Amino acid sequence: MNNPISINRQKVKEALKDFTLPWSPHIRLLDTDLIETLHIENQKIHITLKVPNVDPAQVEPLRAKIEHHLSQLKDVEQARVFMNAISSGLHDPTISKRLVFPPKQTGHTKSDTTSIKANNIKNAKPIETLNSVKCVIAIASGKGGVGKSSTTVNLAIALSQKGLKVGIMDADIYGPSIPHMLDLKGKVEVRDHKLIPMTAWGISAISIGMLVPTNQAVIWRGPMVMGAVKQLLSDVKWGELDIMLIDMPPGTGDVQITLGQSIKLDGAIMVSTPQDIALLDAKRGISLFQKTRTPILGIIENMSYFLCPRCQEKTYIFGQDGVKKEAKALNIPFLGEIPILPAIRTASDEGIPITVQQPDGPESQAYHAIADLIYPAICKTGLANSKNS
Ligand SMILES: Nc1ncnc2c1ncn2[C@@H]1O[C@H](COP(=O)(O)OP(=O)(O)OP(=O)(O)O)[C@@H](O)[C@H]1O
Ligand SMILES: [Mg+2]
Repeated sequence: MNNPISINRQKVKEALKDFTLPWSPHIRLLDTDLIETLHIENQKIHITLKVPNVDPAQVEPLRAKIEHHLSQLKDVEQARVFMNAISSGLHDPTISKRLVFPPKQTGHTKSDTTSIKANNIKNAKPIETLNSVKCVIAIASGKGGVGKSSTTVNLAIALSQKGLKVGIMDADIYGPSIPHMLDLKGKVEVRDHKLIPMTAWGISAISIGMLVPTNQAVIWRGPMVMGAVKQLLSDVKWGELDIMLIDMPPGTGDVQITLGQSIKLDGAIMVSTPQDIALLDAKRGISLFQKTRTPILGIIENMSYFLCPRCQEKTYIFGQDGVKKEAKALNIPFLGEIPILPAIRTASDEGIPITVQQPDGPESQAYHAIADLIYPAICKTGLANSKNS
């Protein structure tokens, strides 16, 4: 087939010949090895830039300038320039500075949630590494500390105990807790420029907590956080998964926005405690997912009741059916109650989740009941398949 398109590597290089480094203006970009990869396919240019050991904020203008300049070239439909930390080497002490993968739209702040357009997702580039993942579900909440991570981990294990291949992506960039809850230590393997998820109890997991020293990400700004999320989405070799759970940070910030704009989630599950559900936060969280047309699969009430270990009597410390009623009012399915039990907390702290320690215990049964609702009902019937349609 004849290809009338005239954009090629030579023309890209020609277009970049006068670019210099913002931090060393006397050095030409093309005289450095900062351009790590350059791919041209169907009028789309894809460049990865190595991030040198300078403040990423200094690299960002260069990245944006290249992207803008190349987008203007004749015969170019799209130009994307990414800063790539992973190929520059993990576990380097400077990794937190390098782990930046600025998205096309930068500058969102927490108050920017209203700028999300429902149809943004239509323009999202399919993420190749997620092709082998049948179903992606976010576990979210409006408020912090309600039990998203505990729920994610135990639900993941309950699902895997049913014979499913399950992965967890820890999207909590500021406060990753999955490595601790699954007792995952050591280094993430990198193969062919892709991260290989760590595994525990049959679950594959990736987390920023495995890549940068604890507490480093706390100081990151919006674009860096969004970049990290994108990297966790596109640079991980998941392999075949039946279901991936994304452990979200609380609220409606940069992570939620980036995810909503980057991938088509099959659904979101909200976690709430009985006393929090009436708060605006939870509703704001729900409305953010609705903006990106992510189906809200339901709400889980965590810490619903105390289960007396001797008599098995349930005590609804914060009142009964609060979340159930609110779910009904919001027209969202209620997925079930999880008791508040010290064993759930201590198991998480030990890195051996309760569903592993006592798979037949009453706590585990609560997670299994929810897993039964999620799968196969949600993942196998249409929602996941619609991704390919
Ligand atoms: N059902 C439960 N019973 C007892 N303790 C629980 C239960 N669910 C969660 N916890 C404990 O509550 C604390 C907060 O839980 P978790 O970290 O899962 O919340 P989170 O919503 O992920 O928090 P964050 O918003 O900070 O990410 C943890 O110490 C956890 O072990
Ligand atoms: Mg958490």
